[in-house]
Amino acid sequence: MSIHYSDETKTITLNTKSTTYQLQVDSCGHLLHLYYGKRIPGDCMDYQYIPMDHGFSPNPYGLRWNRRISMDVLPQEYACANTGDFRTPALELSTDAGAYGADLIYQGHRIEPGKLSLETLPAARAADGECETLLVDLSDEVSGLRVQLRYAVYEARDVIVRSAVLTNGGASGLWLERAASASIDIPFGSWELINFHGRHMMERVEERERLTHGVHTISSRRGASSHQHNPFVVLCERSATEDSGECLGVMLAYSGSFRIDVELDQLNSVRAVAGINDAQFRWRLNPGDSFETPEVFLAFTANGLTELSHIYHNFLRGSVIPARWVNCRRPVLINNWEATYIDFDAEKILAIARKAAAMGVEMFVLDDGWFGHRDDDNSSLGDWFVNERKLPGGLAPLIASINELGLKFGIWIEPEMVSEDSELFRAHPDWALTVPGRAPSMCRNQMVLDMANPAVVEHLYQVISNLLRTQHIEYIKWDMNRNMTDVYSHALPVERQGETFHRYILGVYELARRLTAEFPDVLFEGCSGGGGRFDAGMLHYFPQIWCSDDSDAIERLEIQRGTSFGYPVSAVGAHLSASPNEQTGRAAPFGTRAIVAMSGTFGYELDPDKLTDEEKDSVREQIARFDRYYDLIQRGDYYRLAGPDDNGRFQAWQFAAPDGSQALVNLVVTHTRANFGGIHFRLKGLEPNAMYKLAEHRFEGCRTEFESLRMDDMAHCAQPISGASLMYAGYTLPRMGGDYPSAQLLFVRQN
Ligand code: DGJ
Repeated sequence: MSIHYSDETKTITLNTKSTTYQLQVDSCGHLLHLYYGKRIPGDCMDYQYIPMDHGFSPNPYGLRWNRRISMDVLPQEYACANTGDFRTPALELSTDAGAYGADLIYQGHRIEPGKLSLETLPAARAADGECETLLVDLSDEVSGLRVQLRYAVYEARDVIVRSAVLTNGGASGLWLERAASASIDIPFGSWELINFHGRHMMERVEERERLTHGVHTISSRRGASSHQHNPFVVLCERSATEDSGECLGVMLAYSGSFRIDVELDQLNSVRAVAGINDAQFRWRLNPGDSFETPEVFLAFTANGLTELSHIYHNFLRGSVIPARWVNCRRPVLINNWEATYIDFDAEKILAIARKAAAMGVEMFVLDDGWFGHRDDDNSSLGDWFVNERKLPGGLAPLIASINELGLKFGIWIEPEMVSEDSELFRAHPDWALTVPGRAPSMCRNQMVLDMANPAVVEHLYQVISNLLRTQHIEYIKWDMNRNMTDVYSHALPVERQGETFHRYILGVYELARRLTAEFPDVLFEGCSGGGGRFDAGMLHYFPQIWCSDDSDAIERLEIQRGTSFGYPVSAVGAHLSASPNEQTGRAAPFGTRAIVAMSGTFGYELDPDKLTDEEKDSVREQIARFDRYYDLIQRGDYYRLAGPDDNGRFQAWQFAAPDGSQALVNLVVTHTRANFGGIHFRLKGLEPNAMYKLAEHRFEGCRTEFESLRMDDMAHCAQPISGASLMYAGYTLPRMGGDYPSAQLLFVRQN
């Protein structure tokens, strides 16, 4: 049993393997948050909250003679606006009578085995016996709003999944002005906030700052979770490192406009509130209607950021990403985008496929440009029928030829978009998001389809399912290349326009759910101009997401490193592309580019015709190596050994088999320096008492003439070294010369 109730103290305690989370119902019936942290025995934690009078902090009416009790300072589970708490609320409610605010009072709770699903949103799953769920019912007497707070406790995984279901139990209409998924108060401690910010072609860069007073908002109002901010933040102790210190993760499983507020208040308490963004949000609840919020995955560890990442990697792989795909060996693909862009015909495509097949590539992916009259990116989105001028006879003969080469076939689509110059738009102009009377903002000369309109979702389902039924397509790259403006649904009444943003995402989820359920053997890769919608919501349907449109291996170091804080390698779409790189013009060694792309789903995105014979041989070797290391990379534990700020010279990361039998170190020199010392790093995740030997090593792009790498000097390469020495003292390589040289080292346990 991971959930316990004490009638004596009115506390509900949730225990995972290493954490405790505790709630309490106070004398007025408010639901308080008492503790979330390292696991403790069954104490009631209310002794920590000493009632004190704080100036200008309101008191509940029933306690008006006791100025020491105020909602403004009490730690709460789901804080409401306008009833005594001035901090960031989880809930903002208004009624048809114009009354604003709610005062949620505990009505009861129950504990159920297993994990509840959500009807409209992606939800984590649980194996039999893996999870227990606490349901706490609250209600606001005046408005009739009922709120059910849900807590699914994954004991072994050290994760608590929270969400809320809000129901109008009254007789007149309500408006949700803001309905967060969860709010969590952390009354004590000194914290830092880590967020993952970015831009197109530089997503999820780690940024860590001391939490200062005020509200820090990490959010998107773009209609997608966005390149700019990710719906995942970490609060950590100031002293926290990769290997030590308290860290609390808040990950929202949502792909649309979101908002995570982290507030440090007057008393140095922290409140984190996560949920759907309330910008342009207003949801109507008629009597009897319910509203589900997205799930938030909460994780806590006292052992540093690496352990927090492992908790999320294991949780997403075990409970969120489709089970069909998570452990399945995915094909090494070649994508024609950076080789041809939109300018191709069947012959060009087949030439790429032929050469790729000869090098051992396993799947060909036809990117943007195969449909309508798409000769540039100004037209045809929505017209998902083949451009026979480019591909005579349609897709079938092309797919057959590609299959004959021994390659699977995959294809790109961008279902949620429409070009002004398209048959679809001409037939259904009202299917695009446009504000009546105003010319819409264009972006890549395209508009966004109204996924809040069920007719649009049904149309897309018919078109894509027909494509998958009639063609031998084994992979779909589902792209989404612009953010939303002019958000107005022609399918919704005027008073419901505040629902459009969220209904859009519900439409995306519904389409993804239907297609992935009907075609479970088709591998879907999410994409949004690279990693503009890289979140746990999309991962519920698509096991992998194109991580960034920046395929430069050196830039990818930072992007993939930032992504690794929350998301597993098996979800990270990564390809080896041409050098000089198409986005940055930077040249990097072929082997270095491979090492970086292998720390993801691995594929190629270049014209094989432009490869030298030596590089073609390297591709064969790389695919064989990826195959050999597949389990270690995709299922192993991921360790960040050295980041951009750690030494200024190189970055390193490692995969360790969970049983400590093998470890793969990857290292890229980002700043080559003259007359520098050796490259030193410490391995992680090994068995201290076991002996390890360097079983395989590769050095890529080293300019040996510059007194660089001399393996002959490395006597230690041949001798077994204990796990303890490798982890506590470390391992040293000679300095490496050249531009972006790299190393990949496999250590294997000997006993
Ligand atoms: C953006 C994607 O991220 C690219 O990989 C490519 O598919 C283009 N869109 C095609 O328009």
